[in-house]
Amino acid sequence: MLATLFRRKDLDRVIREAGDPNRADGHAIDSGGLKRHLGAYHLVALGVGAIIGAGIFSLTGTAAAEYAGPGIVYSFVLAGTLCAFAGFCYAELASMIPVAGSAYAYSYTTMGEIIAWIIGWDLILEYTFGAVTVSIAWSGYLYSLLHNSLGIDLPVELLRLTKGPFETVELPNGATAPGIVNLPAVLIGLVLAAVLYRGIRESAWVNNLIVVVKVSIVLAFIALGIGVIQMDNLIADPTVTGPAALVPPARLVEGVSHYGWGLGGVLTGAGVVFFAYIGFDAVSTTAQETKNPAKDLPIGILGSLVVCTILYVLVAVVLSGVVPYRELGVSDPIAVGIDRIVELRQWPATARSAFTFSVKLGALAGLTSVILVLLMAQARVFYAMSRDGLLPWFKDTHPKFHTPHRATIVTGVFVATCASVMPISLVGELVSIGTLLAFVLVCLGVPILRYTNPDTPRPFRVKAPWVVGGLGAATCLLLMIGLPWDTWLRMIIWLIIGFVIYFGYGRTHSALAREAAQKKTDGG
Ligand code: ALA
Repeated sequence: MLATLFRRKDLDRVIREAGDPNRADGHAIDSGGLKRHLGAYHLVALGVGAIIGAGIFSLTGTAAAEYAGPGIVYSFVLAGTLCAFAGFCYAELASMIPVAGSAYAYSYTTMGEIIAWIIGWDLILEYTFGAVTVSIAWSGYLYSLLHNSLGIDLPVELLRLTKGPFETVELPNGATAPGIVNLPAVLIGLVLAAVLYRGIRESAWVNNLIVVVKVSIVLAFIALGIGVIQMDNLIADPTVTGPAALVPPARLVEGVSHYGWGLGGVLTGAGVVFFAYIGFDAVSTTAQETKNPAKDLPIGILGSLVVCTILYVLVAVVLSGVVPYRELGVSDPIAVGIDRIVELRQWPATARSAFTFSVKLGALAGLTSVILVLLMAQARVFYAMSRDGLLPWFKDTHPKFHTPHRATIVTGVFVATCASVMPISLVGELVSIGTLLAFVLVCLGVPILRYTNPDTPRPFRVKAPWVVGGLGAATCLLLMIGLPWDTWLRMIIWLIIGFVIYFGYGRTHSALAREAAQKKTDGG
């Protein structure tokens, strides 16, 4: 029994099934019905599309005001470094095993079926609930754009259709009422699923367009803010000199330490802004739709991570340089930053509204591409799991559009349904813990495969795999430990549901199980 739980997929077979056209060993060009349309540029854009979103536009302020102060810059560097460890490991595995299942498929070859199932089930937390979280945030930004920037007042009946039943809306008379259903969040999920259904080339095109808009807005924020940084805002601890002055001294609030470098300070800030980096790994799920996966996947994964880390650090410097960190504890810190930039530059009020409007539009665009890429990644993980027999329904591709169409429809409908009723507070941290668990297993997978399959070609090789993989896994675990207990509990419940499905279906329907049974019959 135990041995069958840990049965592993043969690495060469996985590589053969994916059919990378550029491998020296000349495997057939068969990507299982998916079509190879994407190049390195598309992949970097998909990574940036998935990364820049709710994290930078909303969470930066809380992380600075409550935990890190102007040391938020270090929180971004720390979270970026952790992601770089995981990014290198993803790059090695993705170039070596270029299949749509990403971390799920890597762990099937390294740690066995049950671990692969856990990771596949866990990726739903990252991709599906990531898309749910960002859809809810998207709805909030749309409302803010309509109401605060354009002055449009929705009638009460429509107002209650902008939030789910567990959240409240503020009525024009100042009273509050429970929401009914979050209709904008439903619509955006379904529209983007339709785009993904239509084709990977079309989806990449939509993503490219959005990425240009959002990166331009972020660059404009940096360019206009950098010249009016107030050094006083950056000096949080005048008793020290040099870069350490950015970190406010630790203090105790109700027995809990805040500020400083550790928990409650820069480290906790890194845990919060980690959400802003989630998504670069989604690039790896396009392996069977990439023209030259061995070369382009590492470029896509690491390139998007580098671009976003640089942008994030610059945004953090500008934001905490123009606004005193204690004033940043709001849901739209970048908008607060713009107000201050306009004030410092003594621009007229019209410039302020135009600038604020553009940034909100940029944020809305940013969130749109995050949802798009996360939905895309989830559909491909379902497709891969179904091809292995662990899930029903999803293994076919559309005969004309060459997309995993059933997986795309089910993912879109599921995300829309959850986003229609769930409160954002329920899902946000689940996404982070699910992603961190996937990163731990990917980081461990690299040294394991170096040991078990030393001779398999690795177009991209991590230097010192034991150090990079070990440090990556350890730092991810550290951030997981810092997350609240109720988040752990929700993840454990989610995994238990997963075990019920695996033992009820996947274990007996798995392709490996059926092959083993067949061999037994033939032998007997
Ligand atoms: N990194 C993505 C975001 O910040 C999930 O929205």
